[in-house]
Amino acid sequence: MLVLGIETSCDETAAAVVRDDRTILADVVLSQLEDHRPFGGIVPEIAARAHLEHVDRLVAEAMRRAGIGFAGLDAVAATGGPGLIGGVMVGVMTGKAIALAAGKPFLAVNHLEGHALTARLTHDLPFPYLLLLASGGHCQLLAVLGVGSYRRLGTTIDDAAGEAFDKVAKMVGLGYPGGPQVQAWAARGDAARFALPRPMKGKPGCDFSFSGLKNAVRLLVESLPRPLSGTDAADICAGFQAAVADSIADRTRRAVGLMQRQWPDCRHLVVAGGVAANSALRATLEGVAGETGLTFLAPPLGLCTDNAAMIAWAGLERFRLGLTDSLDFAPRPRWPLDPDAPKARGAGVKA
Ligand code: KG4
Ligand code: ZN
Repeated sequence: MLVLGIETSCDETAAAVVRDDRTILADVVLSQLEDHRPFGGIVPEIAARAHLEHVDRLVAEAMRRAGIGFAGLDAVAATGGPGLIGGVMVGVMTGKAIALAAGKPFLAVNHLEGHALTARLTHDLPFPYLLLLASGGHCQLLAVLGVGSYRRLGTTIDDAAGEAFDKVAKMVGLGYPGGPQVQAWAARGDAARFALPRPMKGKPGCDFSFSGLKNAVRLLVESLPRPLSGTDAADICAGFQAAVADSIADRTRRAVGLMQRQWPDCRHLVVAGGVAANSALRATLEGVAGETGLTFLAPPLGLCTDNAAMIAWAGLERFRLGLTDSLDFAPRPRWPLDPDAPKARGAGVKA
């Protein structure tokens, strides 16, 4: 079984072909980083235009690398949301057009479900498992019970984890996107030099918060001589990254407790999303898994950040269960994985 996946919900245009034996036949990603860099963040209109300009070529390249034509596909999957709506529309229209022309079923995939199921593409992983999904738009702890079946155990009440990395990078004078830069500078810094808060640590529940930490970094930066010295920048990055990892570890430990009480057959702690590429966070979470008797699973870095292999795979999982979509599917800017979860409080909440 072969499925084409298309991803256009943020600032990566991507296409991939995946087979049901978990082989990735093709996986092409075009980052729009350079288009957005002058603005220090993603500009939705620029993103939509760039997707439109490149998506056909990327799909053709993925098909060429997979060595098949559209007739050889079993289904076509595209990200149907959540995300920047202009970009999502481009991917959905492209997917529908190919499905219609080739006479194949169409699947609208929730981008978050793509991240959530990635570890089942890379590993022989059974349900249920505990997932930390930490990206530029989200920070959630989810009980993954099956395809299309999620319980949100915790979410951010303000910024997403990746957003905090990006903003701290900006304050310290590093480029966009911030996560990889903060990680690189943190490696040279002293995490113990500045005392930064551990948001939500010890609080009941499994929710996250990053805006207080972000403000603490802002005040710290303002208190230091400018421009920041290399040592100061590195120490801030190290301190911030340690605070994020510490706070996420605390929330995750609580979620493991909840998960083990409610779904005792859970054996795995899984990470997904761009922030899951952070090696300090991975090491910390590996520790949490070890303490709590779970096995830690992290997809390779290229499958943590946005890609289309995860969309093709989630589409394939849905297709196997007969969960196809009709060609009148409407793109969704908001699309929570657990529709029954209470709305999170706070400013800037994405889901
Ligand atoms: O999942 P993703 O590629 O796109 C979204 O769906 O948001 O995540 C992008 C986010 C950005 O905020 C980026 O700064 C962050 O993931 N990120 C990292 C690292 N690599 C990417 N954050 C921390 N450490 C990293 N190594
Ligand atoms: Zn993503």
